[in-house]
Amino acid sequence: MNVFVTGGTGLIGSAVVTELLSHGHTVLALARSDTSAQAISAVGSEPLRGSLADLDVLRAGASRADGVIHLAFANDFSSADALAHAVAEESAALASLGDELVGSDRPFVAVAGTPPIPGRISTESDPLSTVGPVGGRGRSVMGVLALASHRVRSTVVRLPRTVHNRGHGGFAGMLTRIARRSRVSGYPGDGSQRWPAVHALDAAILFRLALEQASAGTSWHAVADEGDAVRDIATVIGRRLGVPIAAVPQETFGPLGAVFAIDQPSSSTHTRQALGWQPTKPSLLDDLENIQP
Ligand SMILES: NC(=O)c1ccc[n+]([C@@H]2O[C@H](COP(=O)([O-])OP(=O)(O)OC[C@H]3O[C@@H](n4cnc5c(N)ncnc54)[C@H](OP(=O)(O)O)[C@@H]3O)[C@@H](O)[C@H]2O)c1
Repeated sequence: MNVFVTGGTGLIGSAVVTELLSHGHTVLALARSDTSAQAISAVGSEPLRGSLADLDVLRAGASRADGVIHLAFANDFSSADALAHAVAEESAALASLGDELVGSDRPFVAVAGTPPIPGRISTESDPLSTVGPVGGRGRSVMGVLALASHRVRSTVVRLPRTVHNRGHGGFAGMLTRIARRSRVSGYPGDGSQRWPAVHALDAAILFRLALEQASAGTSWHAVADEGDAVRDIATVIGRRLGVPIAAVPQETFGPLGAVFAIDQPSSSTHTRQALGWQPTKPSLLDDLENIQP
């Protein structure tokens, strides 16, 4: 397939592009800067210049492709306003990509997060979260899934709180950045809340499998580790950085503080059985040993 990818230079997207190219696909990738265009060309894919706000460019990319994988997101958690802007930008982008694919039966793979379900491990059949600071992302993705009834093979890969590679990425990556700055490896609450995780190279395989195999309207979990206690994550980070480990106020983590405080383990049993996905890369706690002081 010729696959149009957004976010193809990111931590996850770059792994997805490599995974696609190594399995016989070609890639057309959105690039919003010269640096990103060069990175895309360097791995053997074709850059398409534009940003998520350029809806005509997104439509043009989708029109040239046999399938679309959407991963771009501003990831600006600096304030509630910045986050709301990023969510709105992505929502408009998803709607434009979807419009272009209607009636084509082509695959459209979007990204979401595994849902937190109070008191138990979440599964692929649980509904997406549509409340809270990133609830708008859930609503956008439900719009993508609804395209299944308009002849789009839409599917969603739901990612755990930390998608990591070489010690970087996701919520654990945010804890590390805050610990470097504040010289304390902090966690909210008592730290017993659990976050699921996956290595980016394993997640990339699932994006390819979903593109190639998933039925319209389906959701998948890219979960390798069902849930590490946040205190255990902070402990590795603190040891690697040589800083103390301590409970800190939820506000330390900005608009995501409330999400950081929730116990949210998740499973991928159905995904593994149905798509034959088997993660093999290092766990989060092992990968965090790559953090350099
Ligand atoms: N990493 C995780 O743990 C995790 C967990 C759950 C969900 N997710 C989601 O997975 C997706 C990918 O995450 P990631 O960790 O790979 O993110 P990342 O490393 O921050 O990469 C973001 C990608 O999006 C692109 N991008 C951002 N804003 C854009 C815009 N306005 N126009 C065009 N491109 C734009 C970036 O392009 P440039 O290279 O040009 O900046 C980059 O390719 C995101 O939707 C993220 O929310 C990630």
